[in-house]
Amino acid sequence: MARSTTTFVCQSCGATYGRWQGKCESCGAWNTIAEENVATTGVGGAPAKGGKTRGRAFALAGLDGLNDQAPRTETQVGELDRVFGGGLVKGSVILIGGDPGIGKSTLLIQASARLARMGHRVVYISGEEAVGQVRLRADRLGLTASPVELAAETNVEDIVATLSEGITPRLVVIDSIQTMWTDSVESAPGTVSQVRSAAQVLIRYAKKSGAAVILVGHVTKDGQIAGPRVVEHMVDAVMSFEGEGGHHFRILRAVKNRFGPTDEIGVFEMTGKGLREVPNPSELFLAGRDLGAPGTAVFAGMEGTRPVLVEIQALVAPSTLGTPRRAVVGWDPARLSMVLAVLDAHCGVRLGGYDVYLNVAGGLRIAEPAADLAVAAALVSSLSGAVLPADAVYFGEVSLSGAVRPVAQAAARLKEAKKLGFAKAVVPEIARGEMSETGLSVQAVTGLSTLVADIAASGVAREKPKAAAGE
Ligand code: TYD
Ligand code: MG
Repeated sequence: MARSTTTFVCQSCGATYGRWQGKCESCGAWNTIAEENVATTGVGGAPAKGGKTRGRAFALAGLDGLNDQAPRTETQVGELDRVFGGGLVKGSVILIGGDPGIGKSTLLIQASARLARMGHRVVYISGEEAVGQVRLRADRLGLTASPVELAAETNVEDIVATLSEGITPRLVVIDSIQTMWTDSVESAPGTVSQVRSAAQVLIRYAKKSGAAVILVGHVTKDGQIAGPRVVEHMVDAVMSFEGEGGHHFRILRAVKNRFGPTDEIGVFEMTGKGLREVPNPSELFLAGRDLGAPGTAVFAGMEGTRPVLVEIQALVAPSTLGTPRRAVVGWDPARLSMVLAVLDAHCGVRLGGYDVYLNVAGGLRIAEPAADLAVAAALVSSLSGAVLPADAVYFGEVSLSGAVRPVAQAAARLKEAKKLGFAKAVVPEIARGEMSETGLSVQAVTGLSTLVADIAASGVAREKPKAAAGE
């Protein structure tokens, strides 16, 4: 018998309550709790009277069994395959989140077209745009010749029924999961229970049929994939497609990946003819560098297995505020505070009276502690007015004691620097051994104070502001 229960669900975190309240006690958000009706027949409901009470025994398998088919399909979009971990895995479900207008639909229609042209069956379901609009975009991108199968549909039962006809698609794109709805839930599309149930239906379809399913998810202002936080646990991989407002670079990053590493990034450039792959991101991030200005240092970083060179820009300016401003784009603010504290405590560089701005060029976000040395160099350069050598790269982790610690994959970083025409590297002591083959001139620093002294010696000291002068 159909039984319908009313619950109150937080649209932000998915917590359920028996009655309405203004604040969600689970995540602390206000006004996010909405009434939802869930019919408890069938899916997840208690077994009907007379139904089987004992489970069915199933066969168990070993880890060394052979899989019957090649598990991955390359999309031939190299940057996408890199983040996926080598291609689309059969039966996997991937959630791709990103701000509206960042280019999710563009990326996926391009990947779909590429796959379809190789002879795979690809179905693209748009819940947001009409078929005509998708066609218009495909036309602009010059993809109309690819045999992608299109539909504008939002009911997941209808979608699964349609997909089950004919041969199993290699890829199904659902754009977006927030527009999908299932018959089994009464609430409006976009609510937590609709998104969760619709995703469940699609995931079950993927696992059963072996088709790879990509779900597009919208992101809220604070950067979370709206509603389907719950979906994140259900899918095999969660990717985010990011980009800074003014830049045309787009970065695809894996947040979770059951079939590959999560530290790889895919770099794209949005052009008038869609997204272009950027196989060598360093050239992009270093383009348009201001070589004669103090406050910039090139960091030789790693994104997954790929070395990426990027410019770190710092601006240190006398502050008029009681608490000086610390603004960071592309790096961890806590890490900046730490580097500032080490500069203060061990190197006599007092920035207490200055506003500090730090920016990673090109909209890249760096998570590596290896950037500490480059950040410190940029800060000291900006403060002292000394221009750092244009042909030098920096990397190394700074410890609280002021020592510069070695970082992983020094050889790969140095090789990339050499390839891009850099002649000098400022690195932790231990990396010196790895330098010999690369042919770069090396300067090994054991402590941050050595670096500070070197930079200060090469530039003219700037007048101190009043706040710092008394120290
Ligand atoms: P879209 O893929 O619709 O974004 P999403 O699906 O993430 O909301 O991309 C829309 C933006 O991309 C739009 O602002 C215009 C830009 N764009 C280009 O610059 N060039 C192109 O060839 C295309 C198709 C879009
Ligand atoms: Mg879209």
